[in-house]
Amino acid sequence: MMKVSLLFSLLFMFSCSGENSFKKEKVFLGNQRVPAHTLNLGRQVYLEYCMACHGVEGDGNGPAAKGSIPAPRNFKQGLYKFGLVADGALPTDEDFKRIIQKGLKGTAMLPWDISDQQTYAVTQYIKTFAPQVWEGEGELGKPVELEADPFTIARKESAINKGREVYHMSASCQTCHKGYVSKEVLSQLNEKYNGEALTEFDEDLYQPKLQISEYYFYDSKERMKKFLPPDFTWHNIRSAQTVEEIAYRLAAGVTGTGMPAWKETIADHEIWAVSYYVKHLMDMKGKPSRKSVIYK
Ligand code: HEC
Ligand code: HEC
Repeated sequence: MMKVSLLFSLLFMFSCSGENSFKKEKVFLGNQRVPAHTLNLGRQVYLEYCMACHGVEGDGNGPAAKGSIPAPRNFKQGLYKFGLVADGALPTDEDFKRIIQKGLKGTAMLPWDISDQQTYAVTQYIKTFAPQVWEGEGELGKPVELEADPFTIARKESAINKGREVYHMSASCQTCHKGYVSKEVLSQLNEKYNGEALTEFDEDLYQPKLQISEYYFYDSKERMKKFLPPDFTWHNIRSAQTVEEIAYRLAAGVTGTGMPAWKETIADHEIWAVSYYVKHLMDMKGKPSRKSVIYK
């Protein structure tokens, strides 16, 4: 009896893997032809390293996904946060490589120690979960571009000061994130930029404000996920640690969430300045200096 059921389960496993294996190449956006053996390798990598969270079906509902905040991405949606492409465009293979090999800091999405070949293959396999976007006629995303850093480390202090002003004035990042200057300083900045002192302040100036996103769980389109914009002195920044990485993240935004792409909205030199400022705030994490930017 034991033997028979073992045989059956072996047969079952065999037929399953046979059924799911790719026999033909796929053609993705940008006329990228991916041979069947690459997709099959990708599937193997996926089942070994990724399935536990992202699920056999790619819906983000793997056995290890329960309670994970943020939730593992539902690949069926064909929507990704951390490409370095113009807002809303699909990530490039370079983007996937960076995300997979570097991970997303502070989340369950670790840096995966897999080869470039395995990374490429698993990237192509992930695309098969969302044929509606990858097999369409649309354009592939173009990497965002920025002019060279006009400050460099030599003028770090002036970059931080300029960045503080950009943050609270021309970009008004505190409309979603929180403010990091006193009401008095905010009022002075407003006088400098808009010619009048402030008499009224938003009640939630010093709190991050919950933003709605386009991401949903595997089980319901209604359950749009809401995200809290990070406090840079407290939370992990998932996709960027250096000034340069922050600058490119700001330029591209975080697709599908409230976090806008800042390229074209503010000037490149402002993006650089505010990136120095964000990095300055990030460096206060866990240090007493943090108190100097926390207001209630
Ligand atoms: C332990 C759980 C876990 C495992 C295992 C895991 N991931 Fe993730 N992954 C996550 C979480 C959580 C997120 C969402 C992070 C966020 O939204 O900030 C994520 C997000 C992603 C994203 C989306 C990034 C974006 O820009 O939106 C990709 C692509 C990805 N994972 C690929 C992989 C691949 C490939 C593997 C296997 C090599 C893998 N993941 C294994 C938890 C996991
Ligand atoms: C309309 C609301 C909104 C505005 C305005 C906004 N952000 Fe965000 N930001 C968000 C949200 C929401 C997230 C979290 C998205 C997510 O869950 O991945 C975020 C995330 C971030 C991140 C983290 C990215 C990562 O890798 O984890 C950085 C850095 C950031 N914002 C900087 C800024 C700066 C600097 C400004 C002003 C120039 C700004 N944001 C303006 C909503 C906003």
